[in-house]
Amino acid sequence: MRVVVVGGSGRIGARLVALLRERGDDAVAASRRSGVDVVTGAGIDAALAGADAVVDVSRSPSMAAPDALAFFTGATRTLIDAGKHAGVAHHVLLSVVGARRLTGAGFLQAKVAQEELLAASGLPYTVLAATQFFGFATGIADASTRVTSAGREVVLPDAPDQPVAEDDVAAALVTLLDEGPRNGLVELAGPEPMRLPRFVATTLAAQDDPRRVVVDPSATYFGATIVGDELMPSPGTRLGTISYNAWLGAQR
Ligand SMILES: NC(=O)c1ccc[n+]([C@@H]2O[C@H](COP(=O)([O-])OP(=O)(O)OC[C@H]3O[C@@H](n4cnc5c(N)ncnc54)[C@H](OP(=O)(O)O)[C@@H]3O)[C@@H](O)[C@H]2O)c1
Repeated sequence: MRVVVVGGSGRIGARLVALLRERGDDAVAASRRSGVDVVTGAGIDAALAGADAVVDVSRSPSMAAPDALAFFTGATRTLIDAGKHAGVAHHVLLSVVGARRLTGAGFLQAKVAQEELLAASGLPYTVLAATQFFGFATGIADASTRVTSAGREVVLPDAPDQPVAEDDVAAALVTLLDEGPRNGLVELAGPEPMRLPRFVATTLAAQDDPRRVVVDPSATYFGATIVGDELMPSPGTRLGTISYNAWLGAQR
């Protein structure tokens, strides 16, 4: 199978390309560093020629809402047009669990807009919505850090969460490619629930990051209010197999 991985040099993309190549698929890592730009359209038609499937795991370099919206919608329109032209039989998109519920988070609303464009495109597709990657705890901390007289602290709501290993996300994408288009959304979470402050605090401690994590019910998550299970997957969702502790141990 010839699979074009858009964002193939990224956290998930590089893992996915490696998994596909290991089992003998023709996996193309497409991103700016290989001359493919989803914003300008450069190199897209050439990359998609002869592709059976496209997996879009690209990410807006800026998390600011207007930038993210322009990036994700522009990239998706470009990939849909090119995919139709090339006769791509399956377009897989990586998105985020709970994005629809986290209406105050502009970055996540850009992911929702991306999902909606793909669903309306007429292309055979699957959306994989994953929970937070284990390696993203630092990104969450950075977005939630405030400076006080006591130093820098990370302020988070006490939300239930079920983060997932990047390797499990890549493996789930391979499974979805094998299963074929579902024309719908599939969720993926890690094997065990973990509250957001503990997830972030444990990761920071393991990295000798001195920031303290403070729980505040009024704190937002990338601008979104959390009152309950917004970050949690639906019951019966697919689960990864790598525990947070196993992942953390492998980082040392
Ligand atoms: N972080 C999380 O916890 C989480 C959870 C669920 C879903 N997601 C979603 O998962 C996806 C992948 O995330 P990630 O962390 O793996 O991303 P990442 O490591 O930041 O990788 C982003 C990729 O996008 C490429 N890229 C950026 N601008 C591009 C452009 N103009 N044209 C072509 N490629 C471009 C980058 O390569 P170049 O620099 O070479 O262009 C890179 O390969 C994202 O859509 C994200 O929203 C993330």
